[in-house]
Amino acid sequence: MWHRDWVAILDLGSQYTHLIARRIRELGVYSEIVDFRITPSELRERNPKAIILSGGPASLTLRTAPVCDRDIFNLGIPVLGICYGAQLMAKLLGGEVERAKAHEYGKAILRVKSKRTLFKGLNSQEVVWMSHADKITKLPEGFSVISSTDNSLYAGIENRKKKLYGVQFHPEVVHTPKGEKILENFVVGISGCKKSWTMSSFIKTKIKEIRGAVGKERVLCALSGGVDSSVLAVLLHKAIRKQLICIFIDNGLLRKGERETVVRRFKNYYRMNLKVVRAEDLFLKNLKGVIDPEKKRKIIGNLFIKVFEKEAKKLGKIKFLAQGTLYPDVIESKSAWGGPSSTIKTHHNVGGLPEKLGFKLIEPFKFLFKDEVRALGRELGLPEEVVFRHPFPGPGLAVRVIGEVDKEKLDILREADAILIEEIKKAKFYEKLWQSFCVFLPVKSVGVMGDERTYENVIAIRAVESQDAMTASWAHLPYELLEKISNRIINEVKGVNRVVYDISSKPPSTIEWE
Ligand code: XMP
Repeated sequence: MWHRDWVAILDLGSQYTHLIARRIRELGVYSEIVDFRITPSELRERNPKAIILSGGPASLTLRTAPVCDRDIFNLGIPVLGICYGAQLMAKLLGGEVERAKAHEYGKAILRVKSKRTLFKGLNSQEVVWMSHADKITKLPEGFSVISSTDNSLYAGIENRKKKLYGVQFHPEVVHTPKGEKILENFVVGISGCKKSWTMSSFIKTKIKEIRGAVGKERVLCALSGGVDSSVLAVLLHKAIRKQLICIFIDNGLLRKGERETVVRRFKNYYRMNLKVVRAEDLFLKNLKGVIDPEKKRKIIGNLFIKVFEKEAKKLGKIKFLAQGTLYPDVIESKSAWGGPSSTIKTHHNVGGLPEKLGFKLIEPFKFLFKDEVRALGRELGLPEEVVFRHPFPGPGLAVRVIGEVDKEKLDILREADAILIEEIKKAKFYEKLWQSFCVFLPVKSVGVMGDERTYENVIAIRAVESQDAMTASWAHLPYELLEKISNRIINEVKGVNRVVYDISSKPPSTIEWE
């Protein structure tokens, strides 16, 4: 653990665990999610200033329920149990938990009885978010009630002397308006954490750490031009300069001007050691005749690794590979429940280079959320257009040309897409959207241009709003904007005579068409 004041969050399986971590970091305090089976001695060694027990879907009335070590409560470190975490704390310390007759789900009014500790600065009544079936029916010794709701007598409990706290509701979700204040009271007020987790402190520590790990060796980085790999490359460049070698593979499935922009930005401006590989022909050759989207993905993913491997070999023995792995990936793969981050779906845009390549991995973002990587990029001086770029799928335009892919279709799609993005940005909609792009449809339709009948291609526009890509709603773009985009695409892109707007939401549709 490289940050002195930090909060350990024991993951008991809640889908909100990552939210607890984020809320605490938003306060300026570093937090990390750990396995609930962590031992008291490990905790003592890693020395968090506060411990939070997350919620979880299990019931303590079942034998399979996850249980942490009871001695965690004797470490002298303040503990806050949330929902299941609070029930677990109560039970382990001698209280009782029972199955309630009815689930309590949704908003509830919390009546605050004591405003001295956890609820400092709150009103006597506050809205909170509940989601539980079991409840505490008897308090352990030394505990008292500091808040209740109609359904939960023990909605807030404390053992002030031992600094142990429990809440039945979820302070980490937005539906608990004063949730952040409650977490701040616990983390800063009760536990004494300093608000020192900033991106500039992160950069300093990481640079030192990277230099220490790498020594005089070289580091390889697959640069795609997306947010994560761009920020990663700039951070590494700052740390190790010429020891960093970036490889950019143009697979012919990228957006208009992508390769040129990457070269301008990273080679000319940052003066990075950038190797550009032009592999359009190879990718397109392999995609010939392929219609099935999953087949396309497989072919592109495998080819990427092959090309990367070949290029890497040319460079001689390189020990390290840098990857932009984000925290949600780590939580997902480590969770005992497979659940905590199940609402987050992340994609490795470079397809996850296999371990068999024999590199040692450098993953500086392993503990960062996406918005923290964006903040880091800003702090490192990357332009907004990089930092706030929409996500772009690894298989690129191959999954946006429906059916068989070829260069002609890709070129048409690139031109149309560039117009769409330009107009969306001009109208100041880009930041409001999760994604916006064009799709090339495998149909031709009749049109009329001047006096002539045309028989040409159809472009679909997709623009969605979303938080995490798990669900998405089609964006209600103004008609005037749609009209402008459609006019420009039809007039300026040869081979297109019709533009349609996709008005489907996810679910049941997906964001991409393939
Ligand atoms: P769907 O189409 O499943 O997309 O609603 C959800 C999000 O994932 C992106 N996406 C991909 N990203 N490789 C990627 O790196 C892929 O194969 C892939 N397929 C979809 C999509 O752009 C959206 O952000």
